[in-house]
Amino acid sequence: MSASASTLPPIESLFDPNSKSYAENPAPQCLAIAARGPLVWYAPWQAWIMTQMPDIMDCWKREYLSSDFYDWEFAPPRPTEENWNKFEKALVGHSLLADPDHHRLVRRITSPAFSRNVVDNIQRQIEPHVTRLFDDIGTPESFDYITEVAQHIPFISITAMVGVPEKYWPEMKRVTQTFTETWNPTISEERRLRAQEDSNKAIDILQVVIAERRENPQEGDFLSALLKIEAANENFNEWDIITLILALIGAGADTTLIAQQWSVYALLKSPDQVPYALESADAFSNAFSEIMRWSGNSKMGFARYAPSDMQLLGQEVKKGQMVLMMPHLKDHDPAYFSNPEKLDVRRKFEPDVLFGYGPRFCIGAALAKRQLYLTMGEMFKRFPNISLAEEPERDLEDHNAVVFKRLLLNTNIK
Ligand code: HEM
Repeated sequence: MSASASTLPPIESLFDPNSKSYAENPAPQCLAIAARGPLVWYAPWQAWIMTQMPDIMDCWKREYLSSDFYDWEFAPPRPTEENWNKFEKALVGHSLLADPDHHRLVRRITSPAFSRNVVDNIQRQIEPHVTRLFDDIGTPESFDYITEVAQHIPFISITAMVGVPEKYWPEMKRVTQTFTETWNPTISEERRLRAQEDSNKAIDILQVVIAERRENPQEGDFLSALLKIEAANENFNEWDIITLILALIGAGADTTLIAQQWSVYALLKSPDQVPYALESADAFSNAFSEIMRWSGNSKMGFARYAPSDMQLLGQEVKKGQMVLMMPHLKDHDPAYFSNPEKLDVRRKFEPDVLFGYGPRFCIGAALAKRQLYLTMGEMFKRFPNISLAEEPERDLEDHNAVVFKRLLLNTNIK
C-alpha cells in the first residue's frame, strides 16, 4: 500500500449502505466512495466496487466478467447434474446467466415477445386488477400505499405478463416473495432450501400451464409468444421458457415493489412535477428514470465474478472475487447532473442506464414503466389532492435498497 493510501480513512467509515445516515441521504457516501478510485476494495462485503460509468458501461457491454453466481468464491458448490431438482435444472442446467452464448441467443430470438404490441396487451390485462385494488381501498381518510397497493403489483403484472391463469395465482404467489432467497448466501441453508421448494412448486404449475396452452393456443401474452418461438427454433425449448419465466419473477418482483414506493414518494414531495410526469406513457418513461435517480435508493449494485486472476482498473483481482458495478454512484454527482437534489422529470438522460446496457439490458423495462404509469395515473385520478401523511421511516432491515416501513397517505377527500 502506498503512503498516501495508508493515510486515507478506512473505506467503511465513508460508505455504509446499511447505516441510518445512508438511508436518509445516500448522496455524500456515494460521492465519497466514487472519489476513492475506479475499483475500490470493500472489505465488509469482500467485494470490489466499480465506481465509474465508462468502466461500468464497458463491463456491461463486453461481459468480460462472469454473471454466474456459482463462479463466486463464496458460493455453495455447483450442484451436479444427477442431483438436480427442477429448480436447479432451470437455474443451473439451462442458466440464462451462466452461458453468455446461449444467453445472447435466447435474448435475440425472444425479442418479439417484448414488442410494443405484447406490452400494450399486457397493460390491458393488468388494468382491471389495478382498478380493483383501488376499488378495494375505497375512500378512506388515509391508507398505507405499501400494503394496499405496492405489494400486490409485482405479482399481478408478472402473472399477467406471463399469462398464468388466475386459478393458479394462490399457488404461484409465494414464489414471487421468496425467489430471491433461493441463492442468497447470507441466509440459512434451511431457508434457502424452503425458497427452492417454492420455486419447484412454481415450476410444476408452469409445466401444467404450458401443457394447457399447447392444447389451447392463445394470443397476446408472453407465454404464447414464447411457445411460437419454441416451435420455430430447435435451440430453444421448454426449459428455456421456464428459466426465462423464473428470471422474470426473480428480477421483476423486488424492483417493482421499490419503484412503486419511490414513485409515490418522489411525486408527492414535488407535486408540481405530477402533471408533467403523467402527461403520457412516454413522458412517464423519462419521469421514472428521474424518480429513480433522485431517490438514490440502491444499496448494492450489479454483481459479476472474476473468471480468472486478472489486472482490472489498476488492481489485482483474484479469480472468484465479486465485482459490484454501481451505476447509481453518479446519480447525485453535479458533474453528471446539474442541481442533482432537484426532481426534474423532464431532465434528459444520455444515455439512460437505469435498466442496464448491452446484452443484459432489462427484459422487463417496458412493462415496469407501463405498470407504474398505470398505478400512478389511477391513484392521482382517484385522489387528486393526495399527500404524504408523514415523513416515512426508512426500513434499515432491507439490504438491497432504501425502502420505507410504511407509506401513509392522506387522500384529502372532502
Ligand atoms: C422496476 C424497475 C426495474 C429496474 C430499475 C430494472 C433494472 C434492471 C437492470 C439494471 C438490469 C441489468 C442487471 C445486470 O446487468 O446485472 C435488469 C435485468 C433484468 N431485468 Fe429488470 N428492472 C426492473 C424491472 C423489471 C421487471 C418488472 C422485470 C420482469 C417482469 C425485469 C426483468 C429483468 C430480467 C429478466 C433481467 C435479466 C436480463 C438478462 O440477463 O438478460 N426487470 N433489470
